[in-house]
Amino acid sequence: MTADANHDISFTLNPTAEPVAAARRAELMANPGFGRVFTDHMVTIAWTAEVGWHDAQLRPFGALSLSPATHVFHYGQEIFEGLKAYRQAGGPIAVFRPVANAARLISSARRMAMPELPEDVFIQAVELLVTLDRDWVPTASEQSLYLRPFMIATHVGLSVSHPSSSFLFVVIASPAGAYFPGGLRPVSVWLADGYIRAAAGGTGAAKTGGNYAGGWIGQLQATEHGCEQVVWLDAAEHRWVEELGGMNLFFVFGADRDARIVTPPLTGTLLPGVIRDSILTLAADLGIPASEEPISVDQWRAGCESGEITEVFASGTAAVITPVGEVKGSAGGWPVGSEPGPVTMRLRDQLLGIQFGQLPDPHGWMHKIC
Ligand code: COI
Repeated sequence: MTADANHDISFTLNPTAEPVAAARRAELMANPGFGRVFTDHMVTIAWTAEVGWHDAQLRPFGALSLSPATHVFHYGQEIFEGLKAYRQAGGPIAVFRPVANAARLISSARRMAMPELPEDVFIQAVELLVTLDRDWVPTASEQSLYLRPFMIATHVGLSVSHPSSSFLFVVIASPAGAYFPGGLRPVSVWLADGYIRAAAGGTGAAKTGGNYAGGWIGQLQATEHGCEQVVWLDAAEHRWVEELGGMNLFFVFGADRDARIVTPPLTGTLLPGVIRDSILTLAADLGIPASEEPISVDQWRAGCESGEITEVFASGTAAVITPVGEVKGSAGGWPVGSEPGPVTMRLRDQLLGIQFGQLPDPHGWMHKIC
């Protein structure tokens, strides 16, 4: 199901007759948290094997009406993305690296036997929603409009002889503050015990709901042990660090001028994070050596104990850059750091500075919308 070479999509505009009143919107946006508040509109685009992408609409945010026999409810054929729009210094609204998210949606679609939404249609959908719902882009510091594009299998029937022959692509938007309640602070992580997230040849590199569904058990273990996130280890040896429940991981070796950062390589079982990729680029810009190298749990522990590992942080669209303060596991735990470290903060400030338009954007990452 490759991208249609000739994708002349025009959007029908059906804006809501009852947008949320300004005063109520301000109330909702005062403390939005993450993923709790939604804007007035959404975009939907249908796909069928016969017609391809069609019926693109900007319409009121609201329930989707689907038969209980719809494929996605039974066989989980679903992919999604996460990206953010920022109100930049001086007024314009800009989205961070939408082309990278559009490309990752295509690669997830390939893995999940779903149709590829052309990049320019993805960008158009995002532009349209952000433009119509621009009053929902927060003005408060470190807040943004989180965009959640997703695609579901809409074929009605229970046979598993063939993947769905119809799909719906949707984009919804949600004003968002800090992902972890309490703002910027080190979080604690739990080493998954007895479960794995992804194995070679599986769906680990695709952003598909099933990876998160299968991960809830690890997240529950983490919560039971007082931790905020689960750390997934490799499937073969249960030894190599892969990623967190919803973020990639970075390790800072050394300090000051000798600091370098390391993140696990994309072996096919990890999610290729857009923020992960951006951090590798920003580190080079800042003169911080960065590499993709396997790191084991034993190295992590020994590195923290010896002082060789000075900081650890998580990266993701929702979580931005969040320091890791403590590791726990069934064989014991160890502290990493009680405060956000200097390398973590340098990279975080650089990233947020570009996103909020306070620093130059040397890589052309910010896609200005309105
Ligand atoms: C994102 O960071 O956009 C994600 O999709 C991860 C999820 C934990 C919110």
